[in-house]
Amino acid sequence: MKIGIASDHAGFELKEYLKESLKKEGYSIIDYGPEVKKVVDYPDYGEKVARGIQNKEIDYGILICGTGIGMDIVANKFKGVRAARCCSIYDAVLAREHNNANVITLGGRLIGKDLAFEIVKIFISTPFTKGRHLKRVNKIKRIENERYTC
Ligand code: RB5
Repeated sequence: MKIGIASDHAGFELKEYLKESLKKEGYSIIDYGPEVKKVVDYPDYGEKVARGIQNKEIDYGILICGTGIGMDIVANKFKGVRAARCCSIYDAVLAREHNNANVITLGGRLIGKDLAFEIVKIFISTPFTKGRHLKRVNKIKRIENERYTC
């Protein structure tokens, strides 16, 4: 399993923490930046991870800005990306089980690093339930095919 991660300046410290913590647990991580803490625009980094999902460079993405909201809005513009802003373990479980989300977005200014790590670990280890949810996710795909171009 390959995981991509990126942030803006407001999520930078949490990105670094999650990257190192996940590596220690044996996960393979691609860091899409930024490499150092500097003021950047979250759409630029959200796009990098979304493209990584689209071209199958990564299986899951983690995007962190101040609130998680900007990254969520950006990532969901990309066909094939289902991004979920998660503030709790339960969000993460249901984002995977029901929505087959492949990107998790987090608020670096909202959430503590230990909780963020637990949320991310639950997200990447929870399978999609399929069943009645598959039909619904397929409807999202149909809407994407009709309306989305990027
Ligand atoms: C940056 O100040 C902030 O606007 C950004 O990190 C994010 O919270 C946007 O949604």
